[in-house]
Amino acid sequence: MSRTTDGLIIAIDGPVGAGKSTAARLLAKRLGYRYIDSGAMYRALSWKALRAGLDLDDEQSLRRLADETSIVIEPAGDRELILVDGQEVSRQIREREVEQATSKISTHPSVRSVMVTHQRHMAAQGGVVMDGRDIGTVVFPDADLKFYLTARVEVRTKRRYLETQAAGATRKMDELAEEITLRDARDMGRRASPLRKADEAVTIDTSDLPVSQVVDAMEEEIRRKTAASKGST
Ligand code: DC
Repeated sequence: MSRTTDGLIIAIDGPVGAGKSTAARLLAKRLGYRYIDSGAMYRALSWKALRAGLDLDDEQSLRRLADETSIVIEPAGDRELILVDGQEVSRQIREREVEQATSKISTHPSVRSVMVTHQRHMAAQGGVVMDGRDIGTVVFPDADLKFYLTARVEVRTKRRYLETQAAGATRKMDELAEEITLRDARDMGRRASPLRKADEAVTIDTSDLPVSQVVDAMEEEIRRKTAASKGST
């Protein structure tokens, strides 16, 4: 696609295993945009909180920690490096213990507020694809394009299974299915910024689509939207 879309902010939300990060990364690459994985930021903070031995229910301390922590996402080839106070933790933040802690920490409104400020700052120049749970609803309610990716639970479980296998872990499918159901309930049921589809978001069910087709559909939507807004000026 030609660069007729400079400076847009593209928001992608959806539940775990919907294929957000793979699609977001590829979309950003095709557009020459920056990809920002907001989940990695929550994970990075959780990693530090666990190391500091903080109580995951102690919102005040976690907020203070968020305030004083530097979280940097650095593009590195086809991936990103996640740096916490200068230390690279890209692998550690994917560990199960961190994942479970993140699901708790991300329920605290004041922690979210620090993260949202940081996310807005990172995307201030535009030209960004950001994925997460509240990007189209809270972080960028005025995003140029919003997508909501979803997939059947069994497909999401299978993806998680393959991911964990690739990372060298052996996990049972039924255990993973249970975890996904629990994380869905937490993400969608929390009081602060629950996961939900923004009204104007375009929904894509990725269950039976290869990622290239998901991204084709997104590009088509971007083209349509930018053509329409040019036509209306
Ligand atoms: O997308 P992920 O699995 O890396 O997200 C990790 C956790 O962070 C998950 O429990 C949901 C939470 N999260 C969030 O609350 N808001 C975001 N914008 C991104 C992630």
